[in-house]
Amino acid sequence: LAASNFIADLPKLELHLHIEGTLEPELMFELAGRNGVPLPWPDVASLRAAYDFDCLQSFLDLYYRGASVLVTEQDFFDLTWAYLEHCATDKVRHVEIFFDPQTHTARGIPFATVLGGIERALQAGEETFGISWRLVMSFLRHLSEEEAFATLREAEPFLSRIHGIGLDSGEKGNPPGKFARVYAHCRELGLPVVAHAGEEGPAEYIWQAIRELEVCRIDHGVRAADDPELLRYLADTRLPLTVCPLSNTRLKVFDQMAHHNVLRLLEQGLCVTINSDDPAYFGGYMNANFQALADELGATASQLGRLSLNAVEASWLSLADKARLT
Ligand code: ADE
Ligand code: ZN
Repeated sequence: LAASNFIADLPKLELHLHIEGTLEPELMFELAGRNGVPLPWPDVASLRAAYDFDCLQSFLDLYYRGASVLVTEQDFFDLTWAYLEHCATDKVRHVEIFFDPQTHTARGIPFATVLGGIERALQAGEETFGISWRLVMSFLRHLSEEEAFATLREAEPFLSRIHGIGLDSGEKGNPPGKFARVYAHCRELGLPVVAHAGEEGPAEYIWQAIRELEVCRIDHGVRAADDPELLRYLADTRLPLTVCPLSNTRLKVFDQMAHHNVLRLLEQGLCVTINSDDPAYFGGYMNANFQALADELGATASQLGRLSLNAVEASWLSLADKARLT
């Protein structure tokens, strides 16, 4: 599968993508200039040189700083449009993307500005490239549950335009159970819910996301490998894991790609999918993530095809749309 046409031609779905994590250094500097926002790096090269992370938190510190250049609706449009151009190049047919309203509203950016810009780009991407989409509002887990409730109240006028709820940011010390009440409320509103769990945190956090948050997918979840009972549960139920290989090696969840466990999880019968997480920061979009599995884990065409089909199964598309994609 070297220099693979198979990967380029494989239709893909992306289910774990933070739109703020698609902010390429060049656009970050352009928006910083446009909006008069100061950045601590003198130029693109020194910013890129700072992408040398030793854990999730070291990345998050830079990621939140970078997001401060996003101010106007046009900024959120430009950000999302650039991502969709990558999707078109990589033959990504459907996306379910996260946005972090608290990263922006805390700086005084109106919720409507954030949502409006992202949504307008997604609509344009559907018309231009035929990429269907869902939008997932994520709570920042380093903040309190009360702040998540406040964000949900702020989102209330827009809930018909939001398709699900997620939970991201620093995992260690912020277990899923911290958000049990706000998640119960979201489920009562009829929103499907997902959560990051078992990225850096223990397998126990995956159980919590399942039992206390009643998630329909786990984001990352690779630490499930530490718990044989959890592995059996995930294989039996096919509760999906949205795995992000390049992210995991960049953030030292695995010390090298050759040690990544995604193909073992696949062969154990789990519904694992491949995603890019924060591609501007982790060295590649969807095709690069698939290519890394081929190059460094020896993934076969059959395995890559099954990973892509798993994403169809794991998506929130209707059965008719799923059939169209397979
Ligand atoms: N926010 C953006 N990317 C993230 C990740 N990989 N884990 C947790 N929070 C995030
Ligand atoms: Zn993520």
